[in-house]
Amino acid sequence: MELPRFIAEMPKAELHLHIEGTLEPELMMSLARRNNVTLPYATVQDIRQAYEFDCLQDFLDVYYLGMSVLQTRQDFFDLAWAYLKKMAAQHVTHVEVFFDPQGHTSRGVAFDTVLSGLTDAFDKAKRDFGITSKLIMCFLRHLSEDEAFDTLAHACACKSHIHGVGLDSSESGHPPSKFRRVFAEARERGFTPVAHAGEEGPPSYVLEALDDLRIERIDHGNRAMEDASLVKRIAGSGMAMTVCPLSNQRLQVVPDLKDHPLRRMLEAGICATVNSDDPSYFGGYVNDNYLAVAEALNLSHAEIVQLARNSFIGSFMNETDKRAAVAHFDEFVDKAR
Ligand code: HPA
Ligand code: ZN
Repeated sequence: MELPRFIAEMPKAELHLHIEGTLEPELMMSLARRNNVTLPYATVQDIRQAYEFDCLQDFLDVYYLGMSVLQTRQDFFDLAWAYLKKMAAQHVTHVEVFFDPQGHTSRGVAFDTVLSGLTDAFDKAKRDFGITSKLIMCFLRHLSEDEAFDTLAHACACKSHIHGVGLDSSESGHPPSKFRRVFAEARERGFTPVAHAGEEGPPSYVLEALDDLRIERIDHGNRAMEDASLVKRIAGSGMAMTVCPLSNQRLQVVPDLKDHPLRRMLEAGICATVNSDDPSYFGGYVNDNYLAVAEALNLSHAEIVQLARNSFIGSFMNETDKRAAVAHFDEFVDKAR
């Protein structure tokens, strides 16, 4: 089987995806019209032209502006449903999805409006496509610890719909240790902790995420590669890393995809996975990420298989579901030979 077809058709999970980052310009325009929101863009082309980023903050400014069109339960359903239809077509069978409630509650949109619209879509995806999902609620790290605690209180009121807590937004100057207490409380309440670390921030932020937040998965983690003892520790722990190649390229975390550390991560024994992060903003969904990085690094068939297999192994599925998903994946790989 040709590589693009193999990548497109292999079963896979996506573990690093911000649902607000799937807002395509066309949907942004139509929701702006539906909700009478004025955007600083006249056309879909104008929106696309704004997607030139020098760094994470450049992107975040555009990302928070874009999400201002999301206001009703139906809007959040439409957003997530558009993503899930694409995932069904890309042979994604399981998704673990971030959402940023503080990006909405700060604009007067109720937490329940966000969560109910999203869960409507994920429930329908299970029924219509068999896609399973888990939601991970992120704290915006540029905001205060108190605001994170307020957000956690909302999550505790609807615990059954939210699997984990994460940490995203502007990394530099906002170390994981700022959220040590709120993560401790979240863990106590039964939420699985993850955090963005080492995207722009130094290796010490990855260390803090491990030791202070006691995370169970590292989002991005690129800069951990600068610290050999940290690499050894991550590999030895078996902890997964959710790597986002096109995001790294577009936010200039790597100068060129050819310089991407993904192969080095695998060679070091890290359970690295491939993900799209904010596909509408970064030029591709999960299959596009596999294909782009496979071509840039000339990844072998075995490396691609390892990455996709890791997406199930590194997921938060229960052990029974995980075993079944890996067996189904291995069967596909055997048949595709
Ligand atoms: N990094 C940090 N915060 C984010 C990202 C990201 O890649 N995407 C959405 N929020
Ligand atoms: Zn991210």
